[in-house]
Amino acid sequence: MLVRLLYASRAAGGAPADVIHQIMTQAHAHNPQHGITGILCHSDKVYMQVLEGGRGPINALYAKILHDPRHTDVVLLHYEEITERRYACWTMAQANLSKVNASTLLRFAELPEVDPHATSGKHALALIDELMATATIVGRP
Ligand SMILES: Cc1cc2nc3c(=O)[nH]c(=O)nc-3n(C[C@H](O)[C@H](O)[C@H](O)COP(=O)(O)O)c2cc1C
Repeated sequence: MLVRLLYASRAAGGAPADVIHQIMTQAHAHNPQHGITGILCHSDKVYMQVLEGGRGPINALYAKILHDPRHTDVVLLHYEEITERRYACWTMAQANLSKVNASTLLRFAELPEVDPHATSGKHALALIDELMATATIVGRP
């Protein structure tokens, strides 16, 4: 049985390129063998990650992520059972929220900035879909 999970968190001490690289390396090493796919969105302040896969592997990964010292204030924004993956193409893709243009952000928020802790899960997923449509997301299968 498949689930989709979306959470947001605040980067502890920023999210410099080497930390993002470290996280992506862990994701690419771990996710394929556990059937996990998804997208990691990041800015220098926040993370927002959507994970899809079997309920057991997703819950187990989320439990590890919750205790990861590289971020704080981890908030679950959305969790649902699904019949079909939306992000099946990526073991873990990434999107730099600092590079998204203001008009895209303004479609989903009062100000042209991403504040996932003040956003509904529905709007956050809509933003991620928009990032997919505008090819802001980069990744490898
Ligand atoms: C924002 C964020 C996203 C992460 N995403 C993943 C992921 O998709 N897959 C993964 O295996 N680890 C991910 N991690 C790392 C895990 O928290 C954990 O460090 C890693 O799975 C290794 O755990 P272990 O040494 O207990 O096996 C992420 C960490 C952070 C801070």
